[in-house]
Amino acid sequence: MAGAIHKAAVLNVSAPAMMHHCPSPETLLRTVLLLTGLTFVSDRLPAAAPVRPLPQLSGWVLETSVSSYIIARNEQGGLQQVYWGGRIDSPEELTAGQFPKTLQNLVFTAGHRDEIRSEEYPGWGGARFEEPCLKVTLPDGVRDTVLVYHSDRIDGDRLELVLKDIRSDLLVRLHYRVYADEGIIAKHAVIENQTGHSVTLESAQSGVWNLPMDRDYRLTYLTGHWGGEAKVIREPLHQGMKVIESRRGTTGFESNPWFAIDAGAAATEESGRVWFGALAWSGNWRISIEQTSWAQPRITGGFNPFDFGYRLNPGERLVTPPFYGGYTDRGFGDASRRLHDLQRNQIRPHGREARLRPVWYNSWQVYEVDVTEENQKALADKAAALGVELFVVDDGWFNLRKTTGAGLGDWFPDRDKFPNGLKPLADHVNRLGMDFGLWVEPEMVNPDSDLYRRHPDWILRFEGRPLTSGRGQYVLNLARDEVKEYLIKALDTLVREGNVRLFKWDMNRLVTEPGWPEVGGAGQRNVLVQYTQNLYEIVDRLRALHPGLEFESCKGGGGRLDLGILERVDQFWTSDNTDPLDRIRIQEGFSFAYSPQLLMGRVAPAFNKRGYQNVRLHAPLEFRFLVAMMGSLGLSLNLNELSSDDEATARKYIAFYKTIRETTQRGHLHRLSSLRERELAVNQFVAANGSQSVVFVLQHWQEFYNVVHPPVTLRGLEPTATYRVHALHPEKLLTVLDRATGAYLMQHGLNFRFAKRDLEGTAVVLERLP
Ligand code: DGJ
Repeated sequence: MAGAIHKAAVLNVSAPAMMHHCPSPETLLRTVLLLTGLTFVSDRLPAAAPVRPLPQLSGWVLETSVSSYIIARNEQGGLQQVYWGGRIDSPEELTAGQFPKTLQNLVFTAGHRDEIRSEEYPGWGGARFEEPCLKVTLPDGVRDTVLVYHSDRIDGDRLELVLKDIRSDLLVRLHYRVYADEGIIAKHAVIENQTGHSVTLESAQSGVWNLPMDRDYRLTYLTGHWGGEAKVIREPLHQGMKVIESRRGTTGFESNPWFAIDAGAAATEESGRVWFGALAWSGNWRISIEQTSWAQPRITGGFNPFDFGYRLNPGERLVTPPFYGGYTDRGFGDASRRLHDLQRNQIRPHGREARLRPVWYNSWQVYEVDVTEENQKALADKAAALGVELFVVDDGWFNLRKTTGAGLGDWFPDRDKFPNGLKPLADHVNRLGMDFGLWVEPEMVNPDSDLYRRHPDWILRFEGRPLTSGRGQYVLNLARDEVKEYLIKALDTLVREGNVRLFKWDMNRLVTEPGWPEVGGAGQRNVLVQYTQNLYEIVDRLRALHPGLEFESCKGGGGRLDLGILERVDQFWTSDNTDPLDRIRIQEGFSFAYSPQLLMGRVAPAFNKRGYQNVRLHAPLEFRFLVAMMGSLGLSLNLNELSSDDEATARKYIAFYKTIRETTQRGHLHRLSSLRERELAVNQFVAANGSQSVVFVLQHWQEFYNVVHPPVTLRGLEPTATYRVHALHPEKLLTVLDRATGAYLMQHGLNFRFAKRDLEGTAVVLERLP
């Protein structure tokens, strides 16, 4: 039965509607205008809507400034993605026959090639052997799901397509949103159970991106580990499946939910066709990159099906995370800049209105958990004098926290360290003109805490099984509403009492034993999805209570960077690794996917409190400042021990940073040279309005063999404009010039001369003259 349905599931390429389609009114109007020579009027036609029906294809087009995405209905009502790539103007004139390559391979109707391809949201059932978007077990054990079109709704830049299973009242609402300026489309699915019975979702994906059939694609993705985040990996896409994922309960260091695929393995930073995407989920996620035997790349993303088995009761719905996808023909640099714009304009809190990230200080590398009211006040005095704007007290301020083995869960000040609470310190910090920030790790509890003694049942666990303890702490079951409410109340109290402007929200272990004995049975399989949903709700509700409140997402460094958490946080802690050379690589790796503004940089002391070495000892303080300010600048130097020279350097570089941060934080990044390929890292930022550009040039080491650095040719300037050139260290510029045209700077470039020394760096600022 199912086989018969699937065999017939082919686009009806000879349907009359497709052979004799009517031109759209806009096309007709353009034709008339062209024939009558009145082309000037057509220039004033309103821009086409970003989402439009395509009746001749029984489909829809989602159109951005640079790309088109086309979905069509087949004869059996299934939805198929027929195109995603560079923008096709006037898609109203397309016919199904114009996609022969794709269509021929949608379904092979004979023999062993009887497979269904390029579906927009395939359920698992029938002749579908590739990664499904939805796999369901019905109460009677049936696992066959065939989704057909039910209805659609267009609302401005949004499209909703509703699918329904052919035999049951299982509905899937596919939601799309077009970010036309950024050239990115978001999709997610809502699965609704109207069957009257509980069903088990074995796999629930946000969607699948199908690339044009072709060979020689290349995949770029980010891997890593604690202290070594965001390593850029490039490898050819071969037939088979590559999986990047997290099974550790949170986003994870091991891979990041971002990918880029370039055609012909030929894209550079500035040229070439690149499809890219990112999944917005901070729990267990998976992106599977599949190259079929018919050279069809498919990228499926959503909840990780590993240990999923989500129970959906009658009347319930499950919302999958947004899966963003974009296309550019201008290389990896443009792909990154589009994502940066999307994050800053559309995803993070306050969007375009968000304030510049302040220069911040963090106590961790100086005091670790030994913070007190007195030592923090003394640090704050010194930080304010250097130009710091946000003072963050890290770990150690709360009940019982004399070591890292106690106190988590008790979110009130330790009476020995802060006898009068946090208010005196917060007031002091505010009086110095700085905002007050506080470290918390709300998802955790130490066995040695009042909270655990009161509520040992609030942790994730499988009853009677061994319990894994990481850093001496257990994971609270955030899925429980009483845990969620406890945390909201505790953090809300802190904001009120300490005038907290920013929480650094940390998370220092892996999620293990994800059980919830009180729920019992199969229902507890939902726990990790609900955990992440409640994590989001806690932050959302605190933000609603305190509209000025900000958050930093930290997971022992850069273990929780994703677009789901970014909807509710203002910045990311990039890495616990604060060595400047490693940081150049880590910040560059993350910059493929995330705006540098969101990546906190930090100038660290050479050694931490326990004598652990934070930085290469020969790394000059100037070099460390330059690296840190390519993200959003922060410091954790031991200000009590700074020499007067170092203090002057710190003051000078913080003041310099404030003159360029509008450009580094809100402008566009061009990665001109990478330590992955050369001994020189060069990053250029161009202000959003083009008025300023900043070039950071950082030498890893100098080769005696190749003693001359090639000139640095710039990007993104106006060829005919003239720029005033300010070199932070004029002696490091070989070229003697105080002004130059954009054309000169982009064609001839700047020549740098560094001492024969490791870790030399400088910056050049270009101001466009009126
Ligand atoms: C891990 C974070 O990444 C560090 O910055 C610091 O906050 C420690 N946790 C504190 O325990």
